[in-house]
This record gives sequence, structure tokens and C-alpha cells, in this order.
Amino acid sequence: MKTIEINIPNKEYKVHINNGLLYDIDKYIDVNREIVIITDDFIPKEYLEILKTKIAIPLIFEVPMGESSKSIDIAYSIINEMIKENISRGALIIALGGGVIGDLTGFIASVYMRGIDYIQIPTTLLSQIDSSVGGKVGINSEAMKNSIGAFYQPKVVLIDPKTLNTLSEKEFNNGMAEMIKYGLIADKSLFYDILEKDVKENIDYYISKCVEIKRNVVVNDEFDTGIRQLLNFGHTIGHAIEQDSKYGLLHGEAVSIGMSLMSLNTTYQKDLVKTLNKYSLPLNYKYDLEIIYNFIKTDKKVNNNKLNIIVVEEVGNGLIKTIDLEDIKKYLR
Ligand code: GLY
Repeated sequence: MKTIEINIPNKEYKVHINNGLLYDIDKYIDVNREIVIITDDFIPKEYLEILKTKIAIPLIFEVPMGESSKSIDIAYSIINEMIKENISRGALIIALGGGVIGDLTGFIASVYMRGIDYIQIPTTLLSQIDSSVGGKVGINSEAMKNSIGAFYQPKVVLIDPKTLNTLSEKEFNNGMAEMIKYGLIADKSLFYDILEKDVKENIDYYISKCVEIKRNVVVNDEFDTGIRQLLNFGHTIGHAIEQDSKYGLLHGEAVSIGMSLMSLNTTYQKDLVKTLNKYSLPLNYKYDLEIIYNFIKTDKKVNNNKLNIIVVEEVGNGLIKTIDLEDIKKYLR
């Protein structure tokens, strides 16, 4: 087992990574608390069944799989139901699923009775290495992804790498895009491992490597005003493309295209193309420049017609660069 401490001042929590951890949930949380589980209708039913053997009759919400569940309507209906069921401020909500479930659950926890405890049990690679750590929670408005939300840290993150065994190849590769990002912005040897080795064979090690990189960033910049922005490499264009595709592209796939556009004419471009190909991640997408630009204009990171973009000039070393908003077009081709 590996435990990583996320030492955000006054909000410290642990990330436990352990195969078979789901079976031992009672070792990590007080199962006698009032518990609500939010999950989706796609994750293997056995995960819920395993939890049910240790947690007495929790209130369970099962939302449709996919980005459309990060909606105000779904958040409101769950909150309403929790109120009707007299769920108190002392309750704990468990997010059991991927990034959508983590973001939605964290958001509900952040506003329910002005904030209650929640924990993350991420079951996809993307959520295990990225979205379950760092407390970015939220839902989408019609016009913009993640535009309604908060920074609200979980009480603990419980990662059972065995849950990846039931993940489709496409979903696994979706998470690999974020792992590639970590390599590019912070860890050259991670990047070349991803290119040259069989990451799946040693996935526990790579999950913990990514969580450590994320920890190093978020403990120094919880609220995303500085160094945390490095995690956005490929994401400004990626988010725009993801929205343009009406979420037909998975997040990691859109980020893959974003990273590839941000890396044109760099020394490592060829290696990045090889790596993205290895994980069947897309390199390009047919888009209308003005439509993508209009999405970027509404990005949360735009301030006074300026935009912070992340550039990687050499592998392992991401940099934050402030540009005029209009100049993002140089990367759109
Ligand atoms: N996924 C980017 C962040 O947590 O800041």
C-alpha cells in the first residue's frame, strides 16, 4: 500500500493506493456514519455490492454515465432528495466512479447545508491520477464546462487500482492523456517510461507518481492562481474542443489534441506523436477556428483580454506564459 499526504494547510488528507482496498472500506472510514453514495449507472455493480457488505443501507444515487450528469438539474434533484431524507450536516458522501461523479459529488458536498464531508473513491485512471485529488469540484453550465463550482477538498481519497481491470481500453487511454501531461510538464523520465514501457504492468507505481506530482502542485497553489495552472497544459484548447464535440470526445482525447497543437515545432513533437499514437489518442480534430476561439474567450482563465497558457519547451519543464487572448490563434491550425 502507498499513502500520499496532501498537506494543504488546515485541509490535510491522505490518498491511499491499495489493491483490493474496496473490500476494506471499514479500515479507512467510519462506516457507522450516515452515508450517501453517488455513483453512475455504468460502473460495475460489484463495486457497490462490495461496499454494501460493510456499510449499512446507505442512500444511493445512480446518475447516467457521462458529462451530462454534471448538471444543475441533477445536482438539485440529489440535494432535494437528501433534504427529504433528512440527511444531516454530519453525513458523509462517497463519490464512487470517474471524474464526472467526483466533480458532481464534491460540488453537492460543498453546498449541502453549507458544506458536508465527502470522500473520493475514483474508479477510472483519469480520476485516480488527476480529478480526485486537489478539490476542484463543479458542474457545467450550458455554455461552459466546470463553470459552476468550488475548491472543496475531500476527507480522503481511496484508490483501488484493481478497479482499472474493468475499464475499457478507450477509458484507460483517456486517463493516459493526463499521465502524458504530467510527464511533459514535470517529469521527463515519466514521459519516456510512458513511451517505452508497459505502464499497465506497473500501474500502481505510475498512479502514485502522478498523484505525487499533483500533490506537489496543489499544496503550493490550492486556488489555481499560480503554479497549479501548469496542470492546464493542453487544456485551454482541449476544453474548447471537448465542448465543440458536444462531449463526443472524452476529456483526455480532447486534451491529447490540445497538447499536440501546443507542441507543434518543438524538439519533442515526434516523441509526443509516438506516445499519443501508442495509446490511440487523437492528434487532431476538424474544427472551425472562430468557434473554438469563441469557446476559449469564455474560459475562466481569460482576464482582461489576457490568457495564461502553458508551454513545454523541453520535456519535464512546463512554463506559464501570459499572452494576448487573440494570440491563442497561433496554436490553432
Ligand atoms: N485538473 C487540473 C487541476 O486539478 O488543477
